[in-house]
Amino acid sequence: MLITVRELHRVYQVGDEKVHALNGVDFDVAPNEYLAVMGPSGSGKSTLMNIIGCLDTPSSGSYKLKDREIGKLTDDELAQIRNQEIGFVFQTFNLLPRADALHNVELPLVYAGLKHEERRRRAREALEMVGLKDRMKHRPNELSGGQRQRVAIARALVNKPSIILADEPTGNLDSATGEEIMAAFETIWKAGNTVILVTHEPDIAQHAHRIVRMRDGRIASDERRSGDGDGAAFRPSGVRAGDPAQEVRR
Ligand SMILES: Nc1ncnc2c1ncn2[C@@H]1O[C@H](COP(=O)(O)OP(=O)(O)OP(=O)(O)O)[C@@H](O)[C@H]1O
Ligand SMILES: [Mg+2]
Repeated sequence: MLITVRELHRVYQVGDEKVHALNGVDFDVAPNEYLAVMGPSGSGKSTLMNIIGCLDTPSSGSYKLKDREIGKLTDDELAQIRNQEIGFVFQTFNLLPRADALHNVELPLVYAGLKHEERRRRAREALEMVGLKDRMKHRPNELSGGQRQRVAIARALVNKPSIILADEPTGNLDSATGEEIMAAFETIWKAGNTVILVTHEPDIAQHAHRIVRMRDGRIASDERRSGDGDGAAFRPSGVRAGDPAQEVRR
Protein backbone atom coordinates (compact mmCIF):
# COMPACT_ATOMS: atom_id res chain seq x y z
CA MET A 1 0.00 0.00 0.00
CA LEU A 2 1.27 3.49 -0.80
CA ILE A 3 -0.63 5.30 1.96
CA THR A 4 -2.05 3.79 5.13
CA VAL A 5 -3.92 6.06 7.54
CA ARG A 6 -5.28 4.70 10.83
CA GLU A 7 -7.29 6.47 13.55
CA LEU A 8 -5.75 9.78 12.52
CA HIS A 9 -6.46 12.79 14.74
CA ARG A 10 -5.37 16.39 14.38
CA VAL A 11 -6.28 18.74 17.18
CA TYR A 12 -5.60 22.47 16.96
CA GLN A 13 -5.38 24.45 20.17
CA VAL A 14 -6.90 27.92 19.72
CA GLY A 15 -6.76 29.83 23.00
CA ASP A 16 -8.62 27.66 25.52
CA GLU A 17 -10.47 25.81 22.80
CA LYS A 18 -9.51 22.58 21.06
CA VAL A 19 -10.52 22.16 17.42
CA HIS A 20 -10.74 18.54 16.28
CA ALA A 21 -9.95 19.02 12.62
CA LEU A 22 -9.45 15.28 12.11
CA ASN A 23 -11.40 12.96 14.32
CA GLY A 24 -10.33 9.41 13.54
CA VAL A 25 -9.63 9.01 9.84
CA ASP A 26 -8.96 5.56 8.35
CA PHE A 27 -8.14 4.99 4.72
CA ASP A 28 -5.69 3.46 2.29
CA VAL A 29 -4.44 4.57 -1.09
CA ALA A 30 -2.83 2.12 -3.50
CA PRO A 31 -0.23 3.18 -6.06
CA ASN A 32 -1.64 4.85 -9.19
CA GLU A 33 -5.05 5.61 -7.70
CA TYR A 34 -6.83 8.79 -8.80
CA LEU A 35 -9.03 10.05 -6.03
CA ALA A 36 -11.05 13.12 -5.18
CA VAL A 37 -11.70 14.31 -1.62
CA MET A 38 -14.94 16.21 -1.15
CA GLY A 39 -16.89 17.53 1.83
CA PRO A 40 -18.19 20.74 3.40
CA SER A 41 -15.96 23.64 4.36
CA GLY A 42 -14.21 22.88 7.64
CA SER A 43 -14.60 19.11 7.35
CA GLY A 44 -10.83 18.55 7.48
CA LYS A 45 -9.89 18.08 3.82
CA SER A 46 -6.91 20.46 3.78
CA THR A 47 -5.76 19.23 7.19
CA LEU A 48 -5.68 15.69 5.82
CA MET A 49 -3.88 16.76 2.65
CA ASN A 50 -1.26 18.64 4.65
CA ILE A 51 -0.56 15.56 6.74
CA ILE A 52 -0.42 13.26 3.71
CA GLY A 53 1.91 15.83 2.09
CA CYS A 54 4.20 15.81 5.15
CA LEU A 55 3.62 19.54 5.72
CA ASP A 56 2.03 18.73 9.07
CA THR A 57 2.05 15.79 11.49
CA PRO A 58 -0.93 14.16 13.25
CA SER A 59 -1.75 14.67 16.95
CA SER A 60 -2.31 10.92 17.21
CA GLY A 61 -2.86 7.90 15.03
CA SER A 62 -0.76 6.45 12.27
CA TYR A 63 0.20 7.65 8.80
CA LYS A 64 2.44 5.37 6.81
CA LEU A 65 3.82 6.39 3.43
CA LYS A 66 5.51 3.45 1.69
CA ASP A 67 5.60 1.65 5.06
CA ARG A 68 7.40 4.47 6.85
CA GLU A 69 5.69 5.88 9.93
CA ILE A 70 5.69 9.61 9.16
CA GLY A 71 4.94 10.82 12.70
CA LYS A 72 8.24 9.34 13.91
CA LEU A 73 10.49 11.19 11.46
CA THR A 74 12.68 14.18 12.24
CA ASP A 75 12.06 17.50 10.45
CA ASP A 76 14.98 16.81 8.11
CA GLU A 77 13.65 13.37 7.23
CA LEU A 78 10.20 14.87 6.66
CA ALA A 79 11.60 17.51 4.33
CA GLN A 80 13.47 14.83 2.40
CA ILE A 81 10.35 12.67 1.95
CA ARG A 82 8.37 15.75 0.95
CA ASN A 83 10.90 16.57 -1.76
CA GLN A 84 11.18 13.05 -3.10
CA GLU A 85 7.66 11.73 -2.86
CA ILE A 86 5.21 14.63 -2.92
CA GLY A 87 4.20 17.20 -5.49
CA PHE A 88 1.85 19.88 -4.16
CA VAL A 89 -0.55 22.01 -6.22
CA PHE A 90 -2.36 24.85 -4.48
CA GLN A 91 -5.49 26.85 -5.27
CA THR A 92 -3.46 30.03 -5.67
CA PHE A 93 -0.70 28.95 -8.00
CA ASN A 94 2.22 30.30 -5.90
CA LEU A 95 4.47 31.06 -8.86
CA LEU A 96 7.37 33.51 -8.79
CA PRO A 97 6.08 36.54 -10.75
CA ARG A 98 9.43 37.60 -12.24
CA ALA A 99 10.51 34.16 -13.41
CA ASP A 100 9.36 32.57 -16.67
CA ALA A 101 7.58 29.22 -16.77
CA LEU A 102 10.80 27.27 -17.26
CA HIS A 103 12.48 28.88 -14.22
CA ASN A 104 9.42 28.41 -12.06
CA VAL A 105 9.38 24.70 -12.86
CA GLU A 106 13.15 24.36 -12.38
CA LEU A 107 13.11 25.80 -8.92
CA PRO A 108 12.51 22.60 -6.90
CA LEU A 109 15.48 21.06 -8.75
CA VAL A 110 17.74 23.90 -7.67
CA TYR A 111 16.92 22.96 -4.08
CA ALA A 112 17.53 19.31 -4.95
CA GLY A 113 21.02 20.27 -6.12
CA LEU A 114 20.74 19.17 -9.76
CA LYS A 115 23.04 20.51 -12.46
CA HIS A 116 21.83 23.21 -14.80
CA GLU A 117 21.50 21.05 -17.95
CA GLU A 118 19.62 18.31 -16.16
CA ARG A 119 17.30 20.88 -14.55
CA ARG A 120 16.48 22.39 -17.91
CA ARG A 121 15.82 19.01 -19.47
CA ARG A 122 13.48 17.91 -16.71
CA ALA A 123 11.63 21.24 -16.53
CA ARG A 124 11.03 21.14 -20.29
CA GLU A 125 9.78 17.59 -20.04
CA ALA A 126 7.34 18.52 -17.24
CA LEU A 127 6.04 21.55 -19.16
CA GLU A 128 5.52 19.43 -22.25
CA MET A 129 3.55 16.95 -20.20
CA VAL A 130 1.03 19.64 -19.24
CA GLY A 131 0.85 20.96 -22.80
CA LEU A 132 2.94 24.14 -22.38
CA LYS A 133 5.80 23.41 -24.75
CA ASP A 134 5.23 26.77 -26.50
CA ARG A 135 4.92 28.86 -23.33
CA MET A 136 8.20 28.17 -21.55
CA LYS A 137 9.51 31.73 -21.79
CA HIS A 138 6.30 33.36 -20.58
CA ARG A 139 6.09 34.91 -17.14
CA PRO A 140 3.00 34.22 -15.02
CA ASN A 141 1.35 37.54 -15.99
CA GLU A 142 1.77 36.56 -19.65
CA LEU A 143 -0.22 33.36 -19.13
CA SER A 144 -3.90 32.54 -18.70
CA GLY A 145 -5.19 31.27 -15.34
CA GLY A 146 -5.31 27.71 -16.61
CA GLN A 147 -1.80 27.97 -18.04
CA ARG A 148 -0.50 29.33 -14.73
CA GLN A 149 -2.01 26.42 -12.89
CA ARG A 150 -0.46 24.04 -15.43
CA VAL A 151 2.95 25.62 -14.73
CA ALA A 152 2.29 24.95 -11.04
CA ILE A 153 1.41 21.35 -11.89
CA ALA A 154 4.59 20.98 -13.94
CA ARG A 155 6.54 22.32 -10.96
CA ALA A 156 4.88 19.71 -8.73
CA LEU A 157 5.84 16.99 -11.25
CA VAL A 158 9.42 17.94 -11.90
CA ASN A 159 10.93 16.01 -8.97
CA LYS A 160 9.13 12.91 -10.23
CA PRO A 161 7.20 12.45 -7.00
CA SER A 162 5.08 9.34 -6.52
CA ILE A 163 2.09 11.37 -5.26
CA ILE A 164 0.53 14.55 -6.62
CA LEU A 165 -1.63 16.35 -4.04
CA ALA A 166 -3.84 19.17 -5.24
CA ASP A 167 -5.99 21.25 -2.88
CA GLU A 168 -8.78 22.81 -4.95
CA PRO A 169 -6.59 23.22 -8.04
CA THR A 170 -9.53 24.54 -10.09
CA GLY A 171 -11.01 26.70 -7.32
CA ASN A 172 -9.90 29.95 -8.96
CA LEU A 173 -10.68 28.95 -12.54
CA ASP A 174 -13.76 28.97 -14.74
CA SER A 175 -15.15 25.58 -15.70
CA ALA A 176 -13.65 25.44 -19.21
CA THR A 177 -10.21 26.18 -17.77
CA GLY A 178 -10.90 23.64 -15.03
CA GLU A 179 -11.29 20.99 -17.71
CA GLU A 180 -7.85 21.96 -19.09
CA ILE A 181 -6.38 21.28 -15.67
CA MET A 182 -8.20 17.98 -15.38
CA ALA A 183 -6.74 16.90 -18.73
CA ALA A 184 -3.28 17.57 -17.28
CA PHE A 185 -4.05 15.43 -14.20
CA GLU A 186 -5.34 12.67 -16.45
CA THR A 187 -1.98 12.62 -18.31
CA ILE A 188 -0.11 12.53 -15.02
CA TRP A 189 -2.22 9.67 -13.74
CA LYS A 190 -1.76 7.72 -16.97
CA ALA A 191 2.00 8.13 -16.59
CA GLY A 192 1.71 6.05 -13.40
CA ASN A 193 1.41 8.68 -10.68
CA THR A 194 -1.00 8.70 -7.78
CA VAL A 195 -3.28 11.75 -7.86
CA ILE A 196 -5.25 13.01 -4.86
CA LEU A 197 -7.26 16.18 -5.29
CA VAL A 198 -9.61 18.16 -3.10
CA THR A 199 -12.57 19.76 -4.83
CA HIS A 200 -15.99 21.22 -4.10
CA GLU A 201 -17.12 20.71 -7.69
CA PRO A 202 -18.93 17.45 -8.56
CA ASP A 203 -17.97 17.84 -12.26
CA ILE A 204 -14.31 17.93 -11.32
CA ALA A 205 -14.64 15.00 -8.91
CA GLN A 206 -16.19 12.87 -11.67
CA HIS A 207 -12.77 12.74 -13.34
CA ALA A 208 -11.41 10.71 -10.42
CA HIS A 209 -11.86 6.97 -10.03
CA ARG A 210 -12.66 7.17 -6.37
CA ILE A 211 -14.47 9.79 -4.29
CA VAL A 212 -13.85 10.12 -0.54
CA ARG A 213 -16.31 12.35 1.28
CA MET A 214 -15.38 13.91 4.61
CA ARG A 215 -17.65 15.24 7.34
CA ASP A 216 -16.68 16.59 10.77
CA GLY A 217 -13.11 15.34 10.52
CA ARG A 218 -14.11 11.82 9.50
CA ILE A 219 -14.61 9.89 6.30
CA ALA A 220 -18.35 9.77 5.62
CA SER A 221 -18.20 7.75 2.41
CA ASP A 222 -15.69 6.18 0.04
CA GLU A 223 -16.88 5.24 -3.42
CA ARG A 224 -15.11 3.70 -6.36
CA ARG A 225 -15.97 3.79 -10.01
CA SER A 226 -16.80 0.32 -11.27
CA GLY A 227 -14.32 0.74 -14.12
CA ASP A 228 -16.47 0.04 -17.19
CA GLY A 229 -15.69 3.26 -18.94
CA ASP A 230 -16.20 6.93 -18.36
CA GLY A 231 -19.94 6.94 -17.91
CA ALA A 232 -19.80 4.31 -15.18
CA ALA A 233 -21.61 5.11 -11.97
CA PHE A 234 -19.79 5.20 -8.67
CA ARG A 235 -20.43 2.24 -6.43
CA PRO A 236 -19.88 2.34 -2.70
CA SER A 237 -16.88 0.50 -1.30
CA GLY A 238 -14.96 0.51 1.95
CA VAL A 239 -16.32 2.77 4.64
CA ARG A 240 -19.83 4.11 4.16
CA ALA A 241 -21.89 6.65 6.02
CA GLY A 242 -23.79 4.80 8.68
CA ASP A 243 -21.56 1.73 8.32
CA PRO A 244 -22.08 -0.17 11.61
CA ALA A 245 -18.35 -0.86 11.92
CA GLN A 246 -17.76 2.89 11.83
CA GLU A 247 -20.58 3.70 14.21
CA VAL A 248 -18.98 1.52 16.92
CA ARG A 249 -15.85 3.65 16.92
CA ARG A 250 -17.69 6.95 17.28
N1 LIG B 1 -4.04 26.30 11.85
C1 LIG B 1 -5.25 26.10 12.38
N2 LIG B 1 -5.52 26.45 13.66
C2 LIG B 1 -6.72 26.22 14.21
N3 LIG B 1 -7.75 25.64 13.59
C3 LIG B 1 -7.56 25.26 12.33
C4 LIG B 1 -6.31 25.46 11.66
N4 LIG B 1 -6.42 24.98 10.41
C5 LIG B 1 -7.67 24.50 10.30
N5 LIG B 1 -8.37 24.65 11.45
C6 LIG B 1 -9.75 24.23 11.70
O1 LIG B 1 -9.82 22.83 11.43
C7 LIG B 1 -11.02 22.51 10.74
C8 LIG B 1 -10.69 21.82 9.42
O2 LIG B 1 -10.05 22.75 8.58
P1 LIG B 1 -9.62 22.41 7.09
O3 LIG B 1 -8.83 23.55 6.58
O4 LIG B 1 -8.98 21.07 7.07
O5 LIG B 1 -11.05 22.33 6.36
P2 LIG B 1 -11.39 22.10 4.83
O6 LIG B 1 -12.24 20.87 4.75
O7 LIG B 1 -10.16 22.12 4.01
O8 LIG B 1 -12.31 23.35 4.50
P3 LIG B 1 -12.42 24.27 3.15
O9 LIG B 1 -13.29 23.49 2.23
O10 LIG B 1 -13.08 25.50 3.64
O11 LIG B 1 -11.04 24.50 2.63
C9 LIG B 1 -11.78 23.81 10.58
O12 LIG B 1 -12.77 23.88 11.57
C10 LIG B 1 -10.73 24.88 10.78
O13 LIG B 1 -11.30 26.03 11.34
MG1 LIG C 1 -9.39 23.43 2.53
